[in-house]
Amino acid sequence: MLKIEHVNITFNKNTVNERRALQDVSLTLESGDFVTVIGSNGAGKSTLLNVISGTYEADSGNVLLDGKDITYLKEHRRARKIGRLFQDPLKGTAPHMTIEENLGLAYSRGKKRGFSMGVKKSDEEFFREKLRELNLGLEDRLKTPMGLLSGGQRQAVTLLMATIVTPALLLLDEHTAALDPKTAEQVMRLTDEIVKEHKITTLMITHNIKNALEYGNKTLVMSQGKALMMLEGQERANMTVEKLMELYSSTAEDSFTDKMILD
Ligand SMILES: Nc1ncnc2c1ncn2[C@@H]1O[C@H](COP(=O)(O)OP(=O)(O)OP(=O)(O)O)[C@@H](O)[C@H]1O
Ligand SMILES: [Mg+2]
Repeated sequence: MLKIEHVNITFNKNTVNERRALQDVSLTLESGDFVTVIGSNGAGKSTLLNVISGTYEADSGNVLLDGKDITYLKEHRRARKIGRLFQDPLKGTAPHMTIEENLGLAYSRGKKRGFSMGVKKSDEEFFREKLRELNLGLEDRLKTPMGLLSGGQRQAVTLLMATIVTPALLLLDEHTAALDPKTAEQVMRLTDEIVKEHKITTLMITHNIKNALEYGNKTLVMSQGKALMMLEGQERANMTVEKLMELYSSTAEDSFTDKMILD
């Protein structure tokens, strides 16, 4: 379970560039919740994920993961429990290391034994099986350097790395936005399968409103640093892109930006 309590963060305090990126944000994710996050540019979506991952420290408020207060826990210590994907497929993997070495690195995370350069035969079989499930033909390319893969393939492997040891929380920041539409859909479907299979508590930022309503079980709408609303249950089930736009403009002080993909 993830609990965010009254989190505030202001960048460049007392300068002309002062930005209240998060304003009294509170929200709760139950175990297994898959929450999609939408909002205009600069709404504070990435900042919210950064505060949860420990990249930024909140000015005030608390972050609790599985009952433990992690507000001041260092980022690298949270990383054992939190899987993360970004828009850029280059982030999160070592390009000169092979697929199996990258998976080995991810697999050793959170385990007592440290990472060793060699990959054990039994692990190799396990990785091959996991790669086969991606359906991208990568199971025969264990020795291929990550840097040689396409963006979509790399993002799929990064997703595997983030979830090969089931994380307490998965944070996805527009992880399909840099991919072509067909590949984006493929990676989105893979994400959905993996999240559902392991019941991973997930926060996924997307600019694709249709995806936001289609995937997951709740949708968080953010505007100007605030958590405007959490759609769930029947209200969400009945929500359409058009209705959501109307709801947004009648509630938020700004409007949806053109970066949003509406269909
Ligand atoms: N490291 C930083 N230093 C200064 N200002 C920042 C920093 N990170 C974010 N901001 C500002 O905080 C606000 C929220 O930014 P954030 O990146 O969280 O928005 P977002 O909702 O992810 O937007 P987008 O859809 O464009 O990715 C913006 O005004 C942004 O300029
Ligand atoms: Mg962002």
